[in-house]
Amino acid sequence: IERTLVLVKPDGVARNLSGEVLARIEAKGYTLAELKKVNATREQLEAHYAEHAGKPFYEPLVEFMLSGPVVAAIFEGHRVIEGFRSLAGTTDPTTAAPGTIRGDFGRDWGAKVQQNLVHGSDSVESAEREIGIWFA
Ligand code: GTP
Ligand code: MG
Repeated sequence: IERTLVLVKPDGVARNLSGEVLARIEAKGYTLAELKKVNATREQLEAHYAEHAGKPFYEPLVEFMLSGPVVAAIFEGHRVIEGFRSLAGTTDPTTAAPGTIRGDFGRDWGAKVQQNLVHGSDSVESAEREIGIWFA
Protein backbone atom coordinates (compact mmCIF):
# COMPACT_ATOMS: atom_id res chain seq x y z
CA ILE A 1 0.00 0.00 0.00
CA GLU A 2 1.29 3.46 -0.91
CA ARG A 3 2.37 5.74 1.95
CA THR A 4 3.03 9.47 2.21
CA LEU A 5 4.65 11.73 4.77
CA VAL A 6 2.46 14.64 5.85
CA LEU A 7 3.78 17.49 8.00
CA VAL A 8 1.62 20.15 9.59
CA LYS A 9 4.17 22.96 9.53
CA PRO A 10 4.77 25.33 12.49
CA ASP A 11 2.20 27.85 11.20
CA GLY A 12 -0.50 25.18 11.07
CA VAL A 13 0.31 23.86 14.54
CA ALA A 14 0.46 27.39 16.01
CA ARG A 15 -2.95 28.21 14.51
CA ASN A 16 -4.47 25.03 15.99
CA LEU A 17 -5.20 23.59 12.54
CA SER A 18 -3.57 20.16 13.06
CA GLY A 19 -6.87 18.46 13.79
CA GLU A 20 -8.58 20.12 10.82
CA VAL A 21 -5.80 18.94 8.48
CA LEU A 22 -5.85 15.37 9.81
CA ALA A 23 -9.67 15.29 9.69
CA ARG A 24 -9.70 16.29 6.01
CA ILE A 25 -7.25 13.51 5.12
CA GLU A 26 -9.23 10.94 7.08
CA ALA A 27 -12.52 12.18 5.61
CA LYS A 28 -11.08 11.67 2.12
CA GLY A 29 -10.66 8.03 3.11
CA TYR A 30 -6.94 7.63 3.83
CA THR A 31 -5.70 5.69 6.85
CA LEU A 32 -3.56 7.22 9.57
CA ALA A 33 -0.61 4.88 10.25
CA GLU A 34 1.69 7.00 12.47
CA LEU A 35 1.35 10.37 14.22
CA LYS A 36 3.53 12.54 16.46
CA LYS A 37 4.27 16.15 17.44
CA VAL A 38 7.98 16.96 17.23
CA ASN A 39 10.50 19.76 17.33
CA ALA A 40 12.53 19.26 14.16
CA THR A 41 16.32 19.44 14.23
CA ARG A 42 18.39 21.37 11.69
CA GLU A 43 19.94 18.05 10.58
CA GLN A 44 16.50 16.56 9.86
CA LEU A 45 15.45 19.64 7.91
CA GLU A 46 18.67 19.76 5.88
CA ALA A 47 18.04 16.13 4.88
CA HIS A 48 14.33 16.71 4.24
CA TYR A 49 14.87 19.82 2.08
CA ALA A 50 18.19 18.79 0.42
CA GLU A 51 16.72 19.40 -3.05
CA HIS A 52 16.24 23.09 -2.18
CA ALA A 53 19.78 23.74 -0.82
CA GLY A 54 21.19 26.93 -2.35
CA LYS A 55 17.81 28.42 -3.34
CA PRO A 56 17.02 31.91 -1.98
CA PHE A 57 14.20 30.60 0.23
CA TYR A 58 16.21 27.67 1.64
CA GLU A 59 17.57 29.26 4.84
CA PRO A 60 14.26 31.06 5.62
CA LEU A 61 12.51 27.72 5.02
CA VAL A 62 14.76 25.87 7.49
CA GLU A 63 14.41 28.68 10.07
CA PHE A 64 10.62 28.67 9.66
CA MET A 65 10.49 24.90 10.17
CA LEU A 66 12.59 25.34 13.35
CA SER A 67 10.32 28.11 14.69
CA GLY A 68 7.93 25.73 16.47
CA PRO A 69 6.73 22.15 16.68
CA VAL A 70 5.42 20.26 13.67
CA VAL A 71 2.96 17.38 13.49
CA ALA A 72 4.31 14.48 11.44
CA ALA A 73 2.04 11.75 10.09
CA ILE A 74 2.15 8.78 7.78
CA PHE A 75 -1.02 8.20 5.77
CA GLU A 76 -1.71 5.13 3.67
CA GLY A 77 -3.93 4.31 0.70
CA HIS A 78 -3.97 3.81 -3.04
CA ARG A 79 -2.57 6.98 -4.71
CA VAL A 80 -2.36 8.77 -1.34
CA ILE A 81 0.64 10.85 -2.51
CA GLU A 82 -1.34 12.42 -5.35
CA GLY A 83 -4.49 12.51 -3.24
CA PHE A 84 -2.92 14.45 -0.39
CA ARG A 85 -1.23 16.96 -2.72
CA SER A 86 -4.64 17.58 -4.26
CA LEU A 87 -6.14 18.18 -0.79
CA ALA A 88 -3.22 20.52 0.09
CA GLY A 89 -3.47 22.74 -3.00
CA THR A 90 -0.71 24.54 -4.85
CA THR A 91 2.44 25.81 -3.11
CA ASP A 92 1.52 29.52 -3.03
CA PRO A 93 -1.31 29.83 -0.48
CA THR A 94 -2.49 33.18 -1.84
CA THR A 95 -3.67 31.55 -5.06
CA ALA A 96 -4.28 27.96 -3.94
CA ALA A 97 -7.83 26.95 -4.83
CA PRO A 98 -10.56 27.46 -2.24
CA GLY A 99 -11.55 24.04 -0.92
CA THR A 100 -7.91 23.05 -0.46
CA ILE A 101 -6.06 23.25 2.86
CA ARG A 102 -3.73 26.00 1.64
CA GLY A 103 -6.54 27.79 -0.21
CA ASP A 104 -8.91 27.77 2.75
CA PHE A 105 -6.46 28.59 5.55
CA GLY A 106 -3.32 30.08 4.00
CA ARG A 107 -2.25 33.54 2.87
CA ASP A 108 0.90 35.60 2.35
CA TRP A 109 2.11 37.05 5.66
CA GLY A 110 5.05 38.89 4.06
CA ALA A 111 7.65 36.35 5.20
CA LYS A 112 10.67 35.40 3.08
CA VAL A 113 9.34 31.87 2.75
CA GLN A 114 5.81 30.80 1.89
CA GLN A 115 4.02 29.71 5.06
CA ASN A 116 1.66 27.19 3.56
CA LEU A 117 0.59 25.03 6.51
CA VAL A 118 1.42 21.53 5.23
CA HIS A 119 3.97 19.37 3.48
CA GLY A 120 3.26 16.25 1.48
CA SER A 121 5.71 13.93 -0.26
CA ASP A 122 5.79 14.29 -4.06
CA SER A 123 6.73 10.74 -5.18
CA VAL A 124 7.01 7.20 -3.87
CA GLU A 125 10.79 7.62 -3.64
CA SER A 126 10.59 10.88 -1.68
CA ALA A 127 7.88 9.45 0.58
CA GLU A 128 10.05 6.51 1.61
CA ARG A 129 13.09 8.80 2.04
CA GLU A 130 11.14 11.34 4.13
CA ILE A 131 9.47 8.68 6.30
CA GLY A 132 13.00 7.50 7.15
CA ILE A 133 13.90 11.03 8.29
CA TRP A 134 10.82 11.67 10.46
CA PHE A 135 10.06 8.14 11.70
CA ALA A 136 13.56 6.64 12.03
P1 GTP B 1 6.08 20.95 0.36
O1 GTP B 1 4.91 20.02 0.44
O2 GTP B 1 6.30 21.76 1.62
O3 GTP B 1 7.34 20.29 -0.13
O4 GTP B 1 5.62 22.04 -0.69
P2 GTP B 1 5.66 21.95 -2.26
O5 GTP B 1 6.06 20.58 -2.71
O6 GTP B 1 4.38 22.54 -2.72
O7 GTP B 1 6.84 22.97 -2.55
P3 GTP B 1 8.40 22.74 -2.77
O8 GTP B 1 8.81 21.36 -2.37
O9 GTP B 1 8.73 23.21 -4.14
O10 GTP B 1 9.02 23.80 -1.74
C1 GTP B 1 9.12 23.51 -0.36
C2 GTP B 1 8.67 24.73 0.41
O11 GTP B 1 9.54 25.82 0.13
C3 GTP B 1 7.29 25.24 0.02
O12 GTP B 1 6.24 24.58 0.68
C4 GTP B 1 7.37 26.69 0.41
O13 GTP B 1 7.21 26.85 1.83
C5 GTP B 1 8.81 27.04 0.07
N1 GTP B 1 8.93 27.58 -1.29
C6 GTP B 1 8.94 26.87 -2.44
N2 GTP B 1 9.07 27.66 -3.52
C7 GTP B 1 9.13 28.91 -3.03
C8 GTP B 1 9.29 30.19 -3.67
O14 GTP B 1 9.40 30.30 -4.89
N3 GTP B 1 9.34 31.27 -2.86
C9 GTP B 1 9.24 31.17 -1.50
N4 GTP B 1 9.30 32.30 -0.79
N5 GTP B 1 9.10 29.99 -0.86
C10 GTP B 1 9.05 28.87 -1.62
MG1 MG C 1 7.86 19.59 -2.02
